[in-house]
Amino acid sequence: MPVKINDRVTWVGKIDWELKKFHGNEYSVHKGSSYNAYLIRDEKTVLIDTVWQPYAKEFVSNLKKVIDLKEIDYIVANHAEIDHSGALPELMREIPDTPIYCSTNAIKSLRGHYHQDWNFVEVKTGDSLDIGQNKLMFIEARMLHWPDTMFTYMAGDNILFSNDAFGQHYASEYMYNDLVDQSELFAEAIKYYANILNPFSVLVKKKIDEVLAMNVPISMICPSHGIIWRQDPLQIVRQYEKWSQAYQEDQITIIYDTMWNGTRRMAEAIANGIKEVDGKTNLKLYNAAKTDKNDLLTEIFKSKAILVGSPTINRSFLSSLAALLDMAKGLAFKQKKAAAFGTYGWSGESVKLLTQQLEDAGFEIVLDGIRELWNPDDAALDRCREFGQQFVSHL
Ligand code: FEO
Repeated sequence: MPVKINDRVTWVGKIDWELKKFHGNEYSVHKGSSYNAYLIRDEKTVLIDTVWQPYAKEFVSNLKKVIDLKEIDYIVANHAEIDHSGALPELMREIPDTPIYCSTNAIKSLRGHYHQDWNFVEVKTGDSLDIGQNKLMFIEARMLHWPDTMFTYMAGDNILFSNDAFGQHYASEYMYNDLVDQSELFAEAIKYYANILNPFSVLVKKKIDEVLAMNVPISMICPSHGIIWRQDPLQIVRQYEKWSQAYQEDQITIIYDTMWNGTRRMAEAIANGIKEVDGKTNLKLYNAAKTDKNDLLTEIFKSKAILVGSPTINRSFLSSLAALLDMAKGLAFKQKKAAAFGTYGWSGESVKLLTQQLEDAGFEIVLDGIRELWNPDDAALDRCREFGQQFVSHL
């Protein structure tokens, strides 16, 4: 069902309450999502983005109830990823000559995905399109998070169509930031930043500075996922500024996997040691094999330091941590401290290998790891407690 955003702009996207995984199976979705497309009716009619491919027919069919497709003068493709361009083939079958305004890189991506030679109009930062009372200004936002990504600013009504930036995988029938649960909204927004945008933080900061330097009024930010920021829309921009600068909270996260509970008992003893010398830092423990990996990466994003533990298995460490640390490496977290721990029975490589993996992922190793033989006894648990205390002294 379309949602009227103002006298000229109508949301014509799809709210997807069923979504559980995104980017294949890489990103967990707990509270649904939406693929936001917007129809602007000024003297010219413009469609900004479409929806994910499985909803293509539904999207086009619904769009026909809002407008005669032949009245669409221009399509703007802010981003070529399938969740926003997926309905283009269905739509372009109906209106094959309609120009698609997009970046040079988007033309490459769209051709690569759909193998169609549509009527592309290449735009770059500084280009604009007069549509009547309003003017669309294009702002390339390369690598936020694909090379083709761009924002479109609607001068007149002062709306920033930011595509993925400032979005969240969060479904709401009410569409606006002031109408939803704020803790849910920000939990999804920070997860989205940590898991998708963090590797590009330097570019995020640069782009925010560039947009703010344009000194244009922003009445609304309309991203391509989740709710629309209409109440104090710049609050999410300020939040992104914080998140993009080696963000951390006063949090230590202990992440472990365990086979026969020895490494879990080490983790708990280390936590006790931390608590004995530091009663204020937010301290959290997670079993990596039992915790959603994207939620865990969000916890790492929020942490100033992490401790990672695994027993040795087959001369290595447990697979849940291998996957997690590889993802953490890709997300390029900055200025976080770390150390490793774990039990062993004979060869005992896990702690050394975990330490190496943490270092490769950009963490600063502040302490040699601790390993304990077989199931830790009281003396071993005391050593873990002391290890926790020493760890805190290095932060
Ligand atoms: Fe929501 Fe990069 O696509």
